[in-house]
Amino acid sequence: MPSRAAINGSRNSGRYQWIKLNQILLRTIKMKKIILDVDTGVDDAIAIMLGIGDPTIEIIGITTVTGNVGVDRAFENSCRIVRYFGQEQKIPVYYGARENLFERSVRAFEVHGEDGLNGMLPDLSYNNTKRPAITWLIEQIKKFPNEITFVGTAPITNLALAVKLAPEIIPLIKEVILMTGAFEFPGNVTSTAEFNAYADPIALQIILDTGFQSLKLIGLDVTTKVLLSQESINKIQDPETCDFLLALTSNYRKLYQRLYNLNGCAMHDPLALGIAIDASFCGFEHVQVSMELKGEHTYGQTVLNRHTKNKNALVATSVETERVINYLVSQLNRLKIVKTKREITKLH
Ligand code: BDR
Ligand code: CA
Repeated sequence: MPSRAAINGSRNSGRYQWIKLNQILLRTIKMKKIILDVDTGVDDAIAIMLGIGDPTIEIIGITTVTGNVGVDRAFENSCRIVRYFGQEQKIPVYYGARENLFERSVRAFEVHGEDGLNGMLPDLSYNNTKRPAITWLIEQIKKFPNEITFVGTAPITNLALAVKLAPEIIPLIKEVILMTGAFEFPGNVTSTAEFNAYADPIALQIILDTGFQSLKLIGLDVTTKVLLSQESINKIQDPETCDFLLALTSNYRKLYQRLYNLNGCAMHDPLALGIAIDASFCGFEHVQVSMELKGEHTYGQTVLNRHTKNKNALVATSVETERVINYLVSQLNRLKIVKTKREITKLH
C-alpha cells in the first residue's frame, strides 16, 4: 500500500503540474500591470498577498507611505511580506512620502498593532535599500503609457506629489483605484471621515481635481461588507499560510467582534485591488466627490454630489460580498511561504 506521504506527494505533484501549466498559459496572455501604494497594516498586507497570489496580474512595484504606521514601518512591513512569500526578486518595494500633505498625525495602531503587522514576522528584517517611490512612479508611468493601473490603499500623498511634479503623466495612467472615503456610511476615524481620506484630504482633493481617465473610489460603504472570518481563513489549505493569516488578523477580528459584533474583519484594501482585477465585484455611480477641508466636525469627509454635471469619480455603492470573499480565499490558496526553519520557530 502506498504510504500517506507518497499519496500526498503525488497529489501535490498533480497540483504542482496544474499550477505550472497555468503559469505557462498566463505568460502568453498580457498581464495587467499594477502599482500598489500601501501603508502596510494588516489589510494592506493581505492586499499584497492577493497581488502575489493572483496570476492574472503583475505587481510591477509597491510604493509605501506614512499612514497606518510611519513610512519606515510601512516600507519594512511590505518588504517582509514580499520576502515571506518569496517575491523579493520579482516585486520591488519603494520608499515614499514621510509626511502627508496635511499632517494631523493620525495612525491606526489600535487596528494593526504598534508595528502594523500585529507583531508578525519580526525576524524577516533585512537591509533594504530605500529607493525613492515618487521618481520611480513617474518613470514607470512614462515607460508603460496607458498600461498601468494604480491601486492606492493608503493616504494618497505619493500619487498627489507625482502628478504635481510631473503633470504629463496624468493622461498616461490607465486607471486609478483608491480605497478611500465614506460616502453614505459613517466614518471610521471621526463620525464622517474614513482613515485614508482623513490622513491626507489635501492629497485626495488634488487627485479628485486631476481628471484621470478613470478614477474609482472604494469606500467604507462597500469595504465594511467584505468580512474575512476565521471560517473563511480556515479554508486555506496550506497550513502555514492559514496559521499566518489567523495570527495576522486575530486582533483585527477581535476588534470587529467587540466594536461592531461582526464575525470577521473588513477587507478594505484587498477589495480595492480586487476591483482592478474584476470591476464587476462592485456596482458604481458616476458622481462628483469633494473633500471637506474646513469643517470642525466634518474635516476629511468625502462629500458626494449627484446633482451636477461635473462628475469626477466612480464611487462603489454595492458589492457582491460572497463572490469577493470566495475569490480572495481562492487566490490566497495559491500562496506558498518561503522561509528558513529558524523563522518558522519564531512565528509560533
Ligand atoms: C483604511 O484605513 C487603514 O487603516 C486600512 O489599511 C485601510 O486602508 C480603511 O479605512
Ligand atoms: Ca491601508
